[in-house]
Amino acid sequence: MKFFTALTLSSIFAGASAFSAVAPNVGNTEPVNKSLKGIDSNEDVFDPTGGDNSALIRNNNDEVWVPQRARPRRNRKNATMRGMVRENIVTPSNFIYPLFIHEEDYNTAIPSMPGCERHSLENMLKEVGEAYNVGVKTFVLFPKVPDELKTNLGQEAYNPEGIVPRALRLIKAAYPDSIVCTDVALDPYSDQGHDGVVENGKILNDVTINQLCKQAVCQAKSGSDVVAPSDMMDGRVGAIRDALDSEGFTDVSILSYTAKYASAYYGPFRDALDSHPGFGDKKTYQQDPANGREALIEAALDAAEGADMLMVKPGMPYLDIIRRLKDATPLPVAAYHVSGEYAMIKAACEKGWLNEKDVVMETLTCFKRAGADIILTYYAKQAAQWIEQDGLY
Ligand code: PBG
Repeated sequence: MKFFTALTLSSIFAGASAFSAVAPNVGNTEPVNKSLKGIDSNEDVFDPTGGDNSALIRNNNDEVWVPQRARPRRNRKNATMRGMVRENIVTPSNFIYPLFIHEEDYNTAIPSMPGCERHSLENMLKEVGEAYNVGVKTFVLFPKVPDELKTNLGQEAYNPEGIVPRALRLIKAAYPDSIVCTDVALDPYSDQGHDGVVENGKILNDVTINQLCKQAVCQAKSGSDVVAPSDMMDGRVGAIRDALDSEGFTDVSILSYTAKYASAYYGPFRDALDSHPGFGDKKTYQQDPANGREALIEAALDAAEGADMLMVKPGMPYLDIIRRLKDATPLPVAAYHVSGEYAMIKAACEKGWLNEKDVVMETLTCFKRAGADIILTYYAKQAAQWIEQDGLY
């Protein structure tokens, strides 16, 4: 019995070398004479402990001494101490795992996102199960919609038999306590490749919101726990809140893409969904990467309109925006570690230029340090598996 307890304990602390008898490699083991006297053959070598204004002095043992009281390195002296004082820890419950889905009955690789696939609904459920087993219980769905279903008004976005409602019902039936988030925007359903309805090169704000309200209610009816408007129209959070509430969905949360930038980092995502803009760009609705204060305007509006959580997107290049939102609002803040960021890490790791596990866990921790409570990342399942193997980082 005791034996089994020990086994279980050591597997909980998996990776902790404290239990191992193997001596760690500590480099040089020869004692260093800390007086540092007589070590230089050349007499002319500068002596930092000499002269009237010496940089260093000597302690009671004649060892060289920087008379420094505050030594921050004391709090870093070993893994246990670092663990005790660590400010930010990433856990699988912080993650939202984005999943691409399509109508086919097989998976398709996404060349610009190695390791990510467009899932058949059956494989999506398998992927959800694998992530769920390592503690990732929140998902967001992104559909690739066949071209023949795309229109300028994006009517397929609120087809109750569309792919997202069907996927939602499948996941919620199999994993009732999972959280499934759904993206609210027209781009996967738009024959114009834009997040809103188009007229003469313009994206129509209010007409788009009318459609988004139908989309959000349709998703709520199919079991969505959290609707996530990513369209960046003005006033959409308030309208969606009212639409949900008036239909009885007061419990459905809104995770607003508050500060979503017109970013070049979305390229691989648009490959995955085949949703590149049909003309122009998204700069009349998504934010200018040069601007920070604008994010505060969006945050104040979203909070006033009833958003439950605010998102910054992309993540890594916008850590300053995450921090500014965190300081400006008591609402939880999410960071979207987007497709282009994922692709950059994957590409460098494939070349052997970066260590994938180390760089990913550092990146995710940095999101938390910047102020993110929630992290949307294509690495969610993988990172949770690493955490399970190695213990918390
Ligand atoms: C579109 C949407 C985009 C992403 C999430 N929702 C792309 C875009 O605005 O063109 C990008 C996510 C990523 O790059 O990982 N509503």
